[in-house]
Amino acid sequence: MSNAHVTVHTEAAIGRIEPEVHGHFSEHLGRCVYDGLWSDDTADTDGFRDDVVDLLADLEIPVLRWPGGCFADDYHWEDGVGPREDRPRRRNLFWAQGIDEDPEESNAFGTDEFLQLCERVGTEPYLAANVGSGDPQEAANWVEYCNYEGDTELADRRRANGHEDGYGVRYWGLGNENWGCGGRMSPKQYAREYRRFATYVGSMDDLMLDEDLELIACGFENHEWNRLFMEEVGEAEWGVEFPLDHLTLHHYYGRTMNVDEAGEEGYDQMLVEALEMDRHIERIAAAIDAVATTRDIGVIIDEWGTWHPEAVASNGLEQPGTVFDALSAAAVLDIFNHHSDVMTMSNIAQTVNVLQCLIETDGDDAWARPTYRVFDLYASHKGNESVRTSLETPTRDVGEDDLPLVGASASVDGSETFLTLTNLDCRAAHTVDVGVEGIDLGEASVDAEVLFAGQDPDAEVDAGNADSFTAEDLDVTTDGDGLSADLEPATVAGITIR
Ligand code: AHR
Repeated sequence: MSNAHVTVHTEAAIGRIEPEVHGHFSEHLGRCVYDGLWSDDTADTDGFRDDVVDLLADLEIPVLRWPGGCFADDYHWEDGVGPREDRPRRRNLFWAQGIDEDPEESNAFGTDEFLQLCERVGTEPYLAANVGSGDPQEAANWVEYCNYEGDTELADRRRANGHEDGYGVRYWGLGNENWGCGGRMSPKQYAREYRRFATYVGSMDDLMLDEDLELIACGFENHEWNRLFMEEVGEAEWGVEFPLDHLTLHHYYGRTMNVDEAGEEGYDQMLVEALEMDRHIERIAAAIDAVATTRDIGVIIDEWGTWHPEAVASNGLEQPGTVFDALSAAAVLDIFNHHSDVMTMSNIAQTVNVLQCLIETDGDDAWARPTYRVFDLYASHKGNESVRTSLETPTRDVGEDDLPLVGASASVDGSETFLTLTNLDCRAAHTVDVGVEGIDLGEASVDAEVLFAGQDPDAEVDAGNADSFTAEDLDVTTDGDGLSADLEPATVAGITIR
């Protein structure tokens, strides 16, 4: 067992940890929406799965992105409103709904169902409009249908469909992966399309660009692409500068780690890929900074998480959800905390049944995966001021990379400091010694919890054993010099210091 050392610099503020950084993503793909969030008219309340709604509400998820993903740029929102029996059945260019189904979309779950789901869960909706195969008029009409309170045909249509007041949808994504499934556009081409869409969508707000609505452009893991996009979209010569509030990218990892035969090396490699998130955030922020200030334009990672070889289109991108995956989520949430000066939102993919979902369903059963437990533990960071941590940690050589075996992030809320520690090492325990500047830990009150102690990190999680992955008390020792915690292999700890 070797020691890691963490110092929490309580006065070195980075920025507020926006609650939206704990956001989620749901797409019409496999069993995410149908069977996951919603069943049919006969299930529970109005078709919503109460068990899933309760799990999401308990987690107080701040924001939910919908309807895609690639699906978004092939989706025409008017297909999914009004009496269900009149809604057209369409082919789905990208995904089947369910497993082994034809790639078709019934449109039974549409805008009103989604926005009412958000109301039930108590979360903010984030709608992704169709740029690839749609037009700005369609996108602006969607804003009007959802939000407009006046006397127009579209606002009346919403009222006739059961919602008198506007829904007040604030977050509007204009396109998804438009460098790929969203139209295979060059950065300049997307920038021009984006400006056109932003003009009409943004003007819905008091005919002013972008007043209360928050407009989101979808970037790429190729940062030269992002730079060229930003240059073009911000070119004052073409009109209003920067009609955007956030720039996003997507980062998936673990594509070479077969969960069923993962082994320790496969897991280490996946973590190295997960930790690349740090570099992506730095580089996308730099692409923004080159032509604007990151304070004005936030960074969103609106799809992220593990994507293992088991998850293929024909099984609705389903893969087992293990402690291994959950540890990678903890490592990424720490990275988001370190970048809270630029991060405005993130959306892990995808909420239910698909990829690194937090919740899985099987018939009438719904249960929380280990990743859900990590989000629950990290919830105490939400809304706090993130502060700098210095970390000395043992590392392991993984190819050309050094994998840090211990991770940490910290935040402050008034007189309370919250610290998360991860032992990313699945082979060995590590003792972590912690010092908190300005606090005599011998005098402080300390509560500590740990996730996954004694668990097999690649154990199958199902309805029967899901509750055994909840947090347990963690023993820590404190004195005037600091705090010390022994972390078993592959565990995550949350420590509150008052
Ligand atoms: O989340 C699955 C897919 O991954 C999304 O549809 C797409 O945006 C991304 O490539």
